[in-house]
Amino acid sequence: MKVALFSTKPYDRESFEAIDHSHEIDFFPRRLTEDSVHLARGYPAVCAFANDVLDAPVIHALREGGTEVLALRCAGCNHVDFDAVAETGLRVVHVPAYSPNAVAEHAVALMMAVNRQIPRATARVRMGNYSLHGLAGFDVVGKTVGVIGTGKIGAVFARILKQGFGAHVIAHDPFPNPSCKAMGVEYVSRDTLFEQADVISLHCPLTEESHHLVDSGAIGRMKPGVVIVNTSRGAVIDTAAVIDGLKSGRIGGLGIDVYEHEGPLYFEDRSDEILTDDLFARLLGFHNVVITGHQAFLTHEALEQIASQTLQNLTCIETGTACEREIIPTDEQAD
Ligand code: NAI
Repeated sequence: MKVALFSTKPYDRESFEAIDHSHEIDFFPRRLTEDSVHLARGYPAVCAFANDVLDAPVIHALREGGTEVLALRCAGCNHVDFDAVAETGLRVVHVPAYSPNAVAEHAVALMMAVNRQIPRATARVRMGNYSLHGLAGFDVVGKTVGVIGTGKIGAVFARILKQGFGAHVIAHDPFPNPSCKAMGVEYVSRDTLFEQADVISLHCPLTEESHHLVDSGAIGRMKPGVVIVNTSRGAVIDTAAVIDGLKSGRIGGLGIDVYEHEGPLYFEDRSDEILTDDLFARLLGFHNVVITGHQAFLTHEALEQIASQTLQNLTCIETGTACEREIIPTDEQAD
């Protein structure tokens, strides 16, 4: 298939070119938006990432330009307008499980970076300041860790925390995972999780229901000093409410790989630009906040899986074979 691959980074190109395949891929560094969608004209397949814009105008423009399949090279599909997908008949495939370990392990890294204040400690040592004042963390063993969303990634995170760290793991998920239950994860209501957890890690998709799941009401229920980790999607957290929680000290630390308004910021070098996002600037001002720029997926193993599964998806569509990773818009998604 002739494929237009948007938001191409050098690591995307390397991983796709390392695989022997029969598709013809043109790599576009530009993000897919209404301004760049004309580049996709004449391509039956478009490959997009988590921060490409896939709203109704873009979906309609893709179909008008002859695109038949949208191959997402990410798991989350909250950025796709499924009403427009259903209206236009565009087919959508994705890579739901390229490496749950990559994301879960990054969540653990963020939790520990916040807990043991690794960025702050490293900066001190670089400046020749070997004082330990203010750097005390906590032992994770025996602490209560709350996992929201125990699908593929949440289950790996729960296993690492339970079996590796010896934490008491509680979880909330409308569909409890039998493998988590089998390892002794205790399912509780969302409010109970907020009230009992010393650490809360978010692993649910962004949906209408999970939008601002961590808001001022939720934060008010949490234990003073709670550490919150978010590697799911930025808008699962109400950023303004979390900033208030950090200012008051109710939240003891925050580790985020995703940010509510990351679209215009992430994945580019903006070090020469003036930061105009005041919420993000405020987050950067806290010494107990650790931020990474949506890199939880970024391991060599995951990149290899993303490329190979995306190419397999395209082959399935091209050859008319049933594709298990096709997303059929449900009434719920298309609402
Ligand atoms: P999954 O579909 O295997 O699991 C999601 C789980 O969340 C399911 O068990 C579901 O029942 C549960 N859930 C749904 N709504 C919920 C709610 N309101 N409250 C509690 N639980 C809820 O998905 P997977 O693969 O574990 O990925 C989770 C999320 O991680 C993705 O949707 C995506 O947004 C994010 N992600 C982030 C990456 C990154 O690089 N930062 C990379 C890959 C995924």
